[in-house]
Amino acid sequence: MTAITKESFAGKSVLITGGMGFIGANLANRLVDLGAKVTIMDAMIPDYGGNEFNLYPIQDRVRINYCDIRDENAVVYLVKNQDYVFHLAGQVCHLMSLSNPFPDIEINITGTAILMEALRKHNKDAVVVYTGTRGQYGPSVSLPVNEEAPTNPKGIYEISNLSAEKIIKVYNDVHGIRSVLLRLSNIYGPRSQMKHSRFGVCNWFVRVALDDDTIKVFGDGGILRDFLYVDDCVDAILRSAVTPEAYGEIFNVGSDIPVSFMELVTTIIKVAGQGKWEYAEFSPERKAQEPGDFYSDVSKIARIVGWSPSTSLEEGLAKTIEYYRKYREQYWTRSGEPVASGKN
Ligand SMILES: NC(=O)c1ccc[n+]([C@@H]2O[C@H](COP(=O)([O-])OP(=O)(O)OC[C@H]3O[C@@H](n4cnc5c(N)ncnc54)[C@H](O)[C@@H]3O)[C@@H](O)[C@H]2O)c1
Repeated sequence: MTAITKESFAGKSVLITGGMGFIGANLANRLVDLGAKVTIMDAMIPDYGGNEFNLYPIQDRVRINYCDIRDENAVVYLVKNQDYVFHLAGQVCHLMSLSNPFPDIEINITGTAILMEALRKHNKDAVVVYTGTRGQYGPSVSLPVNEEAPTNPKGIYEISNLSAEKIIKVYNDVHGIRSVLLRLSNIYGPRSQMKHSRFGVCNWFVRVALDDDTIKVFGDGGILRDFLYVDDCVDAILRSAVTPEAYGEIFNVGSDIPVSFMELVTTIIKVAGQGKWEYAEFSPERKAQEPGDFYSDVSKIARIVGWSPSTSLEEGLAKTIEYYRKYREQYWTRSGEPVASGKN
């Protein structure tokens, strides 16, 4: 079991694909604080989660490459001499994958293969951490869901994540590229996109509450999920990277405390001190993809990596709300372009 200390990453070279996005940027901020030499690769595809403001506290201490994971030549250049590669670049919207499956196939599957081939040819010593999704399981057969559960994903996004995971596992098993395969639950917190409701449900509810608007609760609000604060997620990613027993393993990363959507919404409104809610019908697309109750069994990562979540929902929401109240103008714009300098 490995705790993260200053020594864990000090002086290490680290590549974060998708590092301008929600989780990648939180990871980058933490790694810079730990003394790592951080390189970010991000294509800043409109409507995805990339936001330059996410890196503003560390912008002078990271190398940023605006390029695409599908650009084989750029990827080869970027993987060289890295000690760790955190692979977070991806098409992340399961709703989008219903109407256009090709970004998922090209970015999540082909892009992952391009990254792993570049590592096989140019840097087999790097440690890779991949962030897949709980959606890879599909509907839960029993709860909580552990890593042995069957995988019957309900959408192309989830299939593409499962495929990426399996590709990386092959490079771990066959080519000896040490890799950790994480399946994240619903992550929330600072630095997420807040422009639209198509992904990041908890953060979207926070926005609606902060607009003092009405949160739509689909169905009867009784569906259970485990929501994990982003700092806990970053901690799981970092601890996995430095735990040799974790290499080649699949781990759930979530909260062991299930919460209904209704409970989530009422907690957001309580913590924010504003906002309203009402029941709403599922749209046909959302209904078709809704896998029902899901919450993670996180005992495997606790046992092998020594990680478990430490932030309560109320505490995580309070930090999230405080962040977006302070930096609202950087996240509320529809175009995704920051509207202010970011200094305050
Ligand atoms: N946020 C969650 O709740 C959650 C849950 C499960 C899994 N994940 C996975 O974690 C990873 C990060 O998710 P996130 O929430 O930070 O999303 P995000 O959209 O905020 O960040 C993803 C980043 O990847 C970049 N990107 C997308 N396509 C790219 C490409 N072709 N080349 C280079 N960069 C590209 C985007 O511009 C964006 O900055 C994703 O793989 C996602 O599937 C996230």
